[in-house]
Amino acid sequence: MLKNNLMNTTKIFESYELDGVKLANRMVMAPMTRSRSNNSGNVATELIAEYYRQRATAGLIVTEGTFISPEAVGVVNVPGIYTKEQVEGWRLTTEAVHKEGGIIFAQLWHTGAYSHPDLHGGKKPLAPSDFNPNQQVFTAEGFKPSEAPKPMTLQDIERTIEDFTKAAVNAFEAGFDGVELHGANGYLLQQFFSKNANNRNDSYGGSIENRARILFDILDQLKEVVDIHKVGVRLNPSLDGIMGILVDEETIALYNYIVSRLNDYDLAYIHLIEPFTDVSNNPNAIQEVAKHFRQLYKGTIIINRGFNKETANQVLNDGDADLISFGVPFLANPDLVEKFKTNSPLNQPDQATFYTAGERGYTDYPTISN
Ligand SMILES: Cc1cc2nc3c(=O)[nH]c(=O)nc-3n(C[C@H](O)[C@H](O)[C@H](O)COP(=O)(O)O)c2cc1C
Repeated sequence: MLKNNLMNTTKIFESYELDGVKLANRMVMAPMTRSRSNNSGNVATELIAEYYRQRATAGLIVTEGTFISPEAVGVVNVPGIYTKEQVEGWRLTTEAVHKEGGIIFAQLWHTGAYSHPDLHGGKKPLAPSDFNPNQQVFTAEGFKPSEAPKPMTLQDIERTIEDFTKAAVNAFEAGFDGVELHGANGYLLQQFFSKNANNRNDSYGGSIENRARILFDILDQLKEVVDIHKVGVRLNPSLDGIMGILVDEETIALYNYIVSRLNDYDLAYIHLIEPFTDVSNNPNAIQEVAKHFRQLYKGTIIINRGFNKETANQVLNDGDADLISFGVPFLANPDLVEKFKTNSPLNQPDQATFYTAGERGYTDYPTISN
């Protein structure tokens, strides 16, 4: 009761300083794949620029995952950031968002085992091990079951680290305000982290330090060529039973190690996700992710998953996070900030158009003013 009386119900609308950049509010648009790059070069188009422009009142936008190299591809029609043409394509988005006064980071993505030979000219996708996540993969011919990938050689890993670095450089060239490494949701980096997806016995497998190594290798290389204060990392520490990833008895120690060590990098932020599934009966899973890592991390924390205006304000008031990211609510409500401010009803998301081509379910969600 006392807590409710003291609750600041407008905290999410307060501005926030993110390494010298003023965010207009504490509402972040979470990264969301929308598969609208249905063109031969997987280039971000005018339509994509318009989608992000419509959502530029978010304090910060994190784009959909954008592929760092052809090897990183695991879904069709996703824009990349490894060719000149793709960099030019993304410039349309950054210019459109900046014109509206918004701030936008690019999420750098490699799907690892979550891919299909169809997306790699018939060759097996590369991953830490031959672990098959047993997922349905979105190919040009529709969904196909994943297959066992090819374990990366040390040379493959070196090249992948290089690809992340080049993609980050490209992102800044395209006008992004920063980049976010996609270390979450069971894709390449989390495959390295997870004991059940990584059975390597070299310096990238086995111990916690070894499984986490690739992330720090990427950051060490990145800090030589870009401003590391403009780099964020996304993690999903309690992911369990999704994308084939399992929580195990070392998971909490693993993420404690990763997050503690990230303190040394002075990053823009870490972007954490509360459990996607009910892990309340699992003693190996972190139950309250923001609360847990607030004790360990001294920089900016973005927290995500399932928040509404009230619960977002609650977390901010409790001091467990600095920024809140909203996925589906921003997808369906370009003016989510305004709707929250005016307590207006929210549009419902149309799941059928999450990953389809064109404007429908993409740039045609109504706002208060239209
Ligand atoms: C259509 C869709 C696409 C997504 N694509 C990505 C992605 O590219 N990268 C990522 O890190 N998370 C992705 N996510 C997860 C969201 O960022 C977010 O974690 C999730 O929607 C939960 O937040 P919410 O409850 O506010 O929607 C996606 C979610 C949705 C609904």
